[in-house]
Amino acid sequence: MAVDASSFIYQEIKKTKKKLDQAMARGDNETAAKLALRISELYKELARARKWGKKSALEMAEEYRRLYERLASGEPLPRAPRGSRGPGRPSGPRGGPGPGGDSEAGELDAEFDAEAEKLIAKADVTWSDIAGLEEAKKALMEAIYYSLARPSDPGVRLEPPRRFLLYGPPGTGKTMLAMAASNMLKATFINVSVDRVLSRYVGDSPRMISAIFRLAYRRAPSIVFFDEVETLVAKRDTGREAATGLVQTFLTELDGFKTKKLDKPVIVMAATNKPWMLDEAILSRFEKRIYIPLPDREARKEIFRLNIEGKGLRLEGITLDELADMTEGYSGRDIANACREATMMMLRRANPDIYKRLESVGSLAELQRQKYRVEPIRREEILAALKKVKPPITKEELRRYEEWARR
Ligand SMILES: Nc1ncnc2c1ncn2[C@@H]1O[C@H](COP(=O)(O)OP(=O)(O)OP(=O)(O)O)[C@@H](O)[C@H]1O
Ligand SMILES: [Mg+2]
Repeated sequence: MAVDASSFIYQEIKKTKKKLDQAMARGDNETAAKLALRISELYKELARARKWGKKSALEMAEEYRRLYERLASGEPLPRAPRGSRGPGRPSGPRGGPGPGGDSEAGELDAEFDAEAEKLIAKADVTWSDIAGLEEAKKALMEAIYYSLARPSDPGVRLEPPRRFLLYGPPGTGKTMLAMAASNMLKATFINVSVDRVLSRYVGDSPRMISAIFRLAYRRAPSIVFFDEVETLVAKRDTGREAATGLVQTFLTELDGFKTKKLDKPVIVMAATNKPWMLDEAILSRFEKRIYIPLPDREARKEIFRLNIEGKGLRLEGITLDELADMTEGYSGRDIANACREATMMMLRRANPDIYKRLESVGSLAELQRQKYRVEPIRREEILAALKKVKPPITKEELRRYEEWARR
């Protein structure tokens, strides 16, 4: 099956590399040449089977083809110093850690490590950017505090929670919370969309998950944020082997992580809009499960404030209190989007002539000197904007979250 082809090829490459190392150590160039050619072919197959990393797989194929030619021509190969990449091995495309017959991290693992690095994201959200959610904020701050500070009695050894599950309707601040926690901890923020990892790395996804945890340890303090964790289970239940392997790896890594001795904190946070899809195996690994509800009246008012007054804008003909009253059922994202939309309406009203102005400016520098007018956002503008972003969540759905939270 195409799904697991790359996983199979990966194993073959590892095995064949081991044999190649042994042949070269014996000085058996004839066998080594055959094996090098085989590895080159395997890398080409890997490039065909994968959606990503094709280029580096092809580069590896090329390097092993060159090694094959050198071996086949009978050219004597320099013996590499001990502890390096092994005798005459071609170097990896990224110059990552060498494989060596006995070393665990091969070129491919280095490749996964490099892919994982791409998931590091900026986290510039602070706690005060997040309205409401006091309980969630407190739980996260506590976890951070107790994972850094030391007990007054050095004999005391506690394990602060390291694994959090945030669940609730879409657009309620789950991603923001993870970013704020990361920001406070000055941590490496590793933002993993489980759905993307599954679809991009197909048969390789378990290896990618392991690479993500390696990255988290290497770059600690760090926060690993697994978004849309429920896709893990959804895909597994379709019986796709790749997903099953991924769930297993995910659980194993979460367990290993639980008992791992760490000098600097690593926190795993997972988020989902469909907590009921998660099974016991996954749920039980998260010692803290936090419901992230829709914003209440106070929080809605604060989100309006952040997105209007917080940006230096003003309202006319309507108050924040009125807005908070009329937006029950809206998520933070709905409100933020409505404010953005209303701001655009105000700008269009206040600057009807920008098209003409654009035509008359001659250069970018001139454009940068232009000033556009800013006026208060009118009642009818914010109301129209709110209508546009009608809350997509129904009472029925909301009840489902609340029932699940109670359980
Ligand atoms: N509690 C909040 N306080 C302030 N802004 C919020 C809040 N909740 C949501 N927002 C606004 O909505 C946007 C989306 O929030 P966020 O990405 O954290 O939602 P989410 O819960 O991760 O959503 P999803 O489940 O769809 O991933 C934010 O960028 C922010 O503008
Ligand atoms: Mg999110």
